[in-house]
Amino acid sequence: SPDLDEQAREILRGNDRGGYTVPTDGLYPYQWNWDSAFAAWGFSTFDIDRAWTELETLFSGQWEDGMVPHIVFHKDDPGYFPGPEVWGSGRTPPTSGISQPPVAAILARLIWARDPEAGRDRIAALYPKLLAWHRWWKRDRCGSGVAAVTHPWESGRDNCPDWDIGMAKVDGSNVGEYQRRDTGHVDASMRPRKEDYDRYLAILFFGRDCGWDQREIIRNGPFLMEDPGITFILLRAHEDLAAIGRELGHDVSELEGWAAELRAGVPQLWNPQVQGYDARDLRGDGFAGRVGSAAFLAYLADAATPALDKRMDEIWNRVSYGFPSADPAAEGFDPRRYWRGPSWPVVNSLIALGLQERGHAEAAERLRRETAEVIKKHGFFEYFDPIDGTPCGGDAFTWTAAIWLTWAG
Ligand code: DGY
Repeated sequence: SPDLDEQAREILRGNDRGGYTVPTDGLYPYQWNWDSAFAAWGFSTFDIDRAWTELETLFSGQWEDGMVPHIVFHKDDPGYFPGPEVWGSGRTPPTSGISQPPVAAILARLIWARDPEAGRDRIAALYPKLLAWHRWWKRDRCGSGVAAVTHPWESGRDNCPDWDIGMAKVDGSNVGEYQRRDTGHVDASMRPRKEDYDRYLAILFFGRDCGWDQREIIRNGPFLMEDPGITFILLRAHEDLAAIGRELGHDVSELEGWAAELRAGVPQLWNPQVQGYDARDLRGDGFAGRVGSAAFLAYLADAATPALDKRMDEIWNRVSYGFPSADPAAEGFDPRRYWRGPSWPVVNSLIALGLQERGHAEAAERLRRETAEVIKKHGFFEYFDPIDGTPCGGDAFTWTAAIWLTWAG
C-alpha cells in the first residue's frame, strides 16, 4: 500500500546517518554489515545512488586481509555495548573483529539489475573489494569444506539453538563486570541471556588478545562451528559475484572454483538424524541436532532435497507468521527470544527468493503473505513471535522496511 511504502522509505531516510544506515535508532547505532546490504537493496527502489553509497561506506571498513567487519563504528555512541574500545581493532574507522553473512554480492547483483547504466561504474569499483572478501571467506573460514563461524555474532543468528553445543564449551566466567546496553532499549526477555553475553565476550576477548590473528583464532579460539546459513549464502554469493564479474569482462574461474568446492562440501551438513542441514561443532561434538531457518537458505543455493521440502512443511506448519528461526517442536525453542524461535522478515525474504527460483511459487507467496500480514498489523519490527505475531525487538527497523519495499509489500 502507498502508505506503508512511504513509511518504509521514511524509516530508511530516518535511519540514514550520512552515507550509512543504522539498523535501528538506539539499539544498534552503527553500521552493521548485512543490515547495510539490505538497506542498500531497499534504497535501490527509490534512490539508486544512495543504494550504492551504502555499500561503499560498508567497504570503507574492509581490512587489508579482505575481511569486511560486522560493525563499522563511524561515530562513537555510548548507547551500544560492546563498542569500539572493547573490540580494539586499532583501525580507522574503528570496526569489530569478526564478519557477518556475505549477502552483499547477492543484493548488489539485484541492485545493479534495477539500473544497469547507473550501476556499472559503481559495481566495477566494488567488484575487487567483494572478491577480496570472498577470498577471505574461502581462506579463513572454509578450511573444513564448508563455511564456519568463529563467533555466534558472525553467523548473524546470535543466540539460535544451533550454537548451543559450541557455546556450552566456552568459559564465560572470567569476563568481569560489564554493563549491557541492549536490554535498556528492548525487553530483556526478547534478547540473549546473561550467560550468553558472558560467553560472547569471552570469545571476543580471545580474538582481541591475539590481535585478531585468524590462524590463532581458528586453531585455538573458544568457538568454531560450521554454519549452514553462511555456507548457503556464500555459495549463492560466489555464483552471483561470478555472474557480475563475467558481465564486467573478468576471468571468474577462481570464483567458480570456490563455488564448486563449497557445493561439494554441502552434503557434510546433512544430518540424517534430524533430516535437515545442521550446524557442526569443529571443537569436537559433531552435529548440533537442530534444524533452524538457516537450513532453508538451501533453496537460495539450489541445494534443497525432497527430504528438506518435507522438513520445511513440518516445521512451518507449527507456526502462522513466517518461517521460525528454530523448530517449535525441538528443545530450546523460545518464540520471542531473538533467534531462538522468532520469525525474521529479512530471513523470510531470502528463503522466499530461493523458493521462487526453484519453482515453489506457492510456498514463496505464502511466506510473503505471512510476513506482510504481521508488518501491516504491527509495523516494521525487527522480528515477530511466529505463533501469535507479537512484534519483538527494535521498531522502525531498517531491514524490515527494506524487504517491504523490495519484496513483502
Ligand atoms: C548485538 O549487539 O546484538 C548484535 O547482534 C551483535 O552483532
